[in-house]
Amino acid sequence: MNSIEFNAKTYFDAIYARPVILEAKKLTQSFKHGKTERTILNQLDLKIHKREFICVIGPSGCGKSTFSRIVAGLDPYSSGELLVDGQAIEGPSPERGMVFQGYTLFPWKTVKENVMFGPLMKGASNASAESSAREWIDIIGLEKYQDQYPHQLSGGMKQRVAIARALVNEPKILLMDEPFGALDPHTRQKMQKHLMDLWQNIDITIIFVTHDMDEAILLADRIVALKANPGEIKEIIEVDLPRPRNPELMLTPEFKRLRERVDFLVHAQEDELDPALENLPKIPRMTQVSTHK
Ligand SMILES: Nc1ncnc2c1ncn2[C@@H]1O[C@H](COP(=O)(O)OP(=O)(O)OP(=O)(O)O)[C@@H](O)[C@H]1O
Ligand SMILES: [Mg+2]
Repeated sequence: MNSIEFNAKTYFDAIYARPVILEAKKLTQSFKHGKTERTILNQLDLKIHKREFICVIGPSGCGKSTFSRIVAGLDPYSSGELLVDGQAIEGPSPERGMVFQGYTLFPWKTVKENVMFGPLMKGASNASAESSAREWIDIIGLEKYQDQYPHQLSGGMKQRVAIARALVNEPKILLMDEPFGALDPHTRQKMQKHLMDLWQNIDITIIFVTHDMDEAILLADRIVALKANPGEIKEIIEVDLPRPRNPELMLTPEFKRLRERVDFLVHAQEDELDPALENLPKIPRMTQVSTHK
């Protein structure tokens, strides 16, 4: 690694000098389970700066998706504050684009119609929505597929369309919850590179939830490691690796050092797993495959 080319302190000082775009102040989310109330996110304090790439990581059930849904404005929160550019979040907005694993495209619309949807909803004319959609479809490299329907696309293509559909609205924040979770490793790597290229060329802040520690280290400026029961920030790690990053970086001692730290933060929590995973029922035998006992 060449420390002359990359000075981590200068890099992070520049980030912290930028305006805060998202601020959580004692953000708390509780859900009622019968008569008891469970706190899922407990008094989260976090400041994310303009154009940062933040990855959120933590064990299953620690509240990553709960956090994404609140930032998206899909769910209200119990207490605390959550501000975008100093304004409280009140419901979904095109200024916060979403790409979620289960957040599918409209199956009855073509690629182009899916991407046109946001601008049309904002009152753009058909011609202007179509021209913005075409521009984004070119950027994601799917011009040949613009008249195809989602079921005619691969998983990676669908997620590219979902990214274009969010970015066409020129959001301030792009929220991604395990967006590449269902993709094979090769497609996933390509999507990571594509997302990096997009992020480096447009004025956007990305909040990216992932289970994949290598993915988090390759992508993030900072990694927010959450702990479970209740979800709290365990540590925020500055990823002090030069950019652009490519998978070969994973072989370096610097990468391995970060990987060990993240691994420790996520896996030193086995005793804090989602209770639903702890009490899985015994599965009754339902089939008789052969005479084997
Ligand atoms: N609407 C809801 N009502 C009640 N409980 C909820 C609700 N949404 C989430 N929870 C609970 O909050 C906890 C955190 O869920 P969440 O989906 O945020 O976890 P996660 O960190 O995204 O997990 P995973 O890594 O498995 O996706 C879980 O125990 C879940 O049961
Ligand atoms: Mg989740």
